[in-house]
Amino acid sequence: MNEHINYICKRIEVLSPIHSKKLKKNRTFFDERYDELADVFFKKYLRVLQLENKTLDYAIACYLQMLADVTNETVEFLRTGKYTSTTFEEVNKRVYASPGVMEYYMHGLLLSQFLFKHHYQTLTFFTDTLPQYVNTTKSYLEVGVGHGLYLSSALDILDSKTTFTVVDISETSIQFAKNLINDTRVEYNLRDIFDFDKGEKYDFITLGEVLEHVEDPLGLLLKLNDLLSDDGVLFFTTPTNAPAIDHIYLFNNVDEIRDIVRSAGFQIASERSFLSEDVSAERAEKYKIAVLYDAFLKKISR
Ligand SMILES: C[S@@+](CC[C@H](N)C(=O)[O-])C[C@H]1O[C@@H](n2cnc3c(N)ncnc32)[C@H](O)[C@@H]1O
Repeated sequence: MNEHINYICKRIEVLSPIHSKKLKKNRTFFDERYDELADVFFKKYLRVLQLENKTLDYAIACYLQMLADVTNETVEFLRTGKYTSTTFEEVNKRVYASPGVMEYYMHGLLLSQFLFKHHYQTLTFFTDTLPQYVNTTKSYLEVGVGHGLYLSSALDILDSKTTFTVVDISETSIQFAKNLINDTRVEYNLRDIFDFDKGEKYDFITLGEVLEHVEDPLGLLLKLNDLLSDDGVLFFTTPTNAPAIDHIYLFNNVDEIRDIVRSAGFQIASERSFLSEDVSAERAEKYKIAVLYDAFLKKISR
């Protein structure tokens, strides 16, 4: 096991014994590439921590704070059946425009990519499938880059002549991604995606865990359909039943997601559903347990 993951798991065993049990269970889902991917990741991430004069213990504290937020949101969600915030204005103020919150959230979310089984499975679905599109991707756009891990993988996989563009509404996310990426090929735009239009089309667009952050997910997919070149590909991920401090649009099940995908003029090239807990898909829907839905989409030809 990667030495840093090992350290993180040992600290969590002390700081949060109940969560530690879940992490041990999650390990059985990690495949043979896990250590190799974690090695590549920690090389980049430790540089970010050093740059910010922070330690892995700080990152662990951020991860546990993010989990505490999810627990609080889950209590309300199970009581009311709704997410606590419903408007973009609320979550912009509460999270994206609040550097202290965004900072621990992005560190926590980044670590979760190697600690939550459904996040790791999503990451490897992306990195395993993206190579199919290397020859057709001359321009790459990522919306809601957050911590920057997906962008970092895309930079490693795609052709060196590909252009890379990022749009994110949070200054903290843009700075976080810049530190992780450390690559001059990327153009960063601090903007709401609904206000972004440079009159260009993109061959590949990534939208990782953003759809549930907007009031009008169909409007967002229509916007991305417009930004995508005719033969382009959109990779997106979004969860069902996943309360969090910045989630405002509730998808109750995967079919609701597929419906808006079709309404926005897309067809599904490949898809996966990853469960956040070790339960069946039926139980997850019945008991409102989060499922992370991922898909590669193409435009429906008109
Ligand atoms: C949960 S993070 C996702 C990070 C990463 N893509 C992932 O999959 O883990 C959501 C990101 O989307 C950004 N975001 C939310 N609403 C946005 C909007 N309307 N326009 C641009 N970025 C937005 C947030 O600032 C944040 O960086």
